[in-house]
Amino acid sequence: MTGMRLFFFACLLVGAALLAVPSIPALQDHAPPSEAAAGMAVWRAYGCEGCHTLFGQGGSYAPDLTGIYAQRGVDYLREFLVYPAAFHPGQRLMPAFGLTVNEANHLLAFLEWVSQQQTGWPPRTIQVAGGLEIGVIAPAAFDAAVPDTPAARGEYWFKRPPAICATCHALEPDIIIVGPSLAGIATRAASRIPGLNAEAYLRQSIITPGEYIVPGFQDVMQKNLGEKLSAEQINDIISFLMTLQ
Ligand code: HEC
Ligand code: HEC
Repeated sequence: MTGMRLFFFACLLVGAALLAVPSIPALQDHAPPSEAAAGMAVWRAYGCEGCHTLFGQGGSYAPDLTGIYAQRGVDYLREFLVYPAAFHPGQRLMPAFGLTVNEANHLLAFLEWVSQQQTGWPPRTIQVAGGLEIGVIAPAAFDAAVPDTPAARGEYWFKRPPAICATCHALEPDIIIVGPSLAGIATRAASRIPGLNAEAYLRQSIITPGEYIVPGFQDVMQKNLGEKLSAEQINDIISFLMTLQ
């Protein structure tokens, strides 16, 4: 009996000691400076963590970015954030978010701060390599002539900046990239929300994607496409989506 009591007492002591030790001491000692804190807010607002991990936490679609600042350097990262798709042609693409200069600066301060934290992460080297030399980004890759008809223009914008819908949406049935496949969306769109016809639903999906979340998916589609795309581009994209019966 005394043995049992002693055991429980010991457990209590160990438990209390564990609680007293901060779980990630390195992070608690170094609260982020204000620029980095602003960058963390940008990181959250754009849903970067939906695809990327920091210290292993987040989405595993894209590389862990804990040490990316030290690995790539600020100049590379600044250019990458403007035209991500130009850097790794033929790979899984990252959407262009159309960040403002301020947002980009804050994000870079945040990633710098993250890379300075001594938490022993990652346990092995990050697997991103290759890509273009900085300074030779070729927006020419996106320069093909803009087609004449609305639906063809819509398909063109579907695959190009500023939105690059195609980085997250496949047009083949049943293929999930980040968002659902849009095969057959014209039919589905007509019955998603009572009172909204297909065009109205598609417009809402682009401009305020958070308002209806497709079951089984996360709310990671950008919230600023209504500003990044012109009214004409949005109309064209809707015309294109309406051809996907
Ligand atoms: C929809 C998924 C997705 C989201 C959301 C996303 N990324 Fe990425 N990111 C990727 C993919 C995929 C890569 C791999 C490189 C590539 O092919 O572009 C990548 C690579 C990167 C890299 C490394 C580039 C390199 O060449 O080493 C950085 C830095 C980065 N992302 C920053 C961000 C930031 C900052 C945000 C939020 C503003 C963000 N990402 C949001 C998918 C995403
Ligand atoms: C960063 C990834 C990402 C990008 C880029 C993106 N989407 Fe999405 N989209 C999603 C996700 C995830 C969902 C499912 C969650 C939701 O409903 O918001 C979604 C949902 C949708 C839906 C609803 C589909 C349904 O079955 O009801 C439509 C329509 C859509 N997106 C169109 C677009 C168009 C058009 C673009 C480009 C202008 C675009 N998306 C860009 C991730 C993305």
